[in-house]
Amino acid sequence: MDLELGGKVVLVTGGSDGLGAAVARRLVREGARVALCARGAERLEATATALRAEGGDVLAVQADVSKAWEVEHFVDAAHARWGRVDALVNNAGTASARPFSSVTDAEWETDLQLKLFAAVRASRHVLPHLSESGGGSIVNVLSIGAKSPGAQSTPSSVSRAAGMALTKALSKELGAKNIRVNAVLVGIIESGQWVRRAQELGKSVESFQAEMARNAGIPLGRVGRAEEFADVVAFLLSPRGGYISGAAINVDGGLSGAV
Ligand SMILES: NC(=O)c1ccc[n+]([C@@H]2O[C@H](COP(=O)([O-])OP(=O)(O)OC[C@H]3O[C@@H](n4cnc5c(N)ncnc54)[C@H](OP(=O)(O)O)[C@@H]3O)[C@@H](O)[C@H]2O)c1
Repeated sequence: MDLELGGKVVLVTGGSDGLGAAVARRLVREGARVALCARGAERLEATATALRAEGGDVLAVQADVSKAWEVEHFVDAAHARWGRVDALVNNAGTASARPFSSVTDAEWETDLQLKLFAAVRASRHVLPHLSESGGGSIVNVLSIGAKSPGAQSTPSSVSRAAGMALTKALSKELGAKNIRVNAVLVGIIESGQWVRRAQELGKSVESFQAEMARNAGIPLGRVGRAEEFADVVAFLLSPRGGYISGAAINVDGGLSGAV
């Protein structure tokens, strides 16, 4: 299936590792022009260099999306480079689920800045560019905790539920401008964060992931592959997903208790 993403300009926050990098790679293979941002310069450049070696037209911008001016700089840099923006993937994030009584106000604030306000600001800042392009697509990467929060899942599940409300509200508001807004709710999918966790625990990535899948009771019996996630995001960004807006799609091997 031709996703008709050739030449489109797509911004991916948190694109230097894990799921964001997998999305960037999928988009490059579709011929899209891709801007990535992340905090760490070294990994960001390494990912961008690898994507360029695969033929990608890739811009890497060092930015912490939890800081307003850095998000805006990321969007501005992409627009300055290509003169247009067609799509945005709000992906940057990190795991942060702890017992409620141990989460301080400062930690709540940090989580909301990273997972909610970054998406608010990036979406607001790309809007004029998407309108100029005659429409566009925004994908918010959330977690299955957004629909179905578990015990000890704050502050993340609360930030993610807000991200789902943002998705739905924006889809209603921006539909008339031909801008689609969707969310992808992740269960457990292989990524840099799990590689680092396995290393911290002194386990092989394979055995750690198999253990996570067993303990979580994932119906498909395994964690997801980053490419499986990237396929869904690329489809939602593309004209092939042109009638999907305001949806929150679980990509979780059946794990979530909520449809
Ligand atoms: N993988 C899963 O099983 C899973 C489950 C539920 C939800 N998710 C969500 O899916 C998204 C991607 O996660 P992942 O598993 O791919 O994580 P990952 O492997 O740790 O990659 C995270 C990416 O985001 C970047 N990043 C983190 N904080 C950032 C910030 N403040 N500003 C800019 N970039 C930032 C990281 O680069 P730097 O550190 O250099 O900034 C990296 O490129 C996250 O929102 C995560 O919460 C993932």
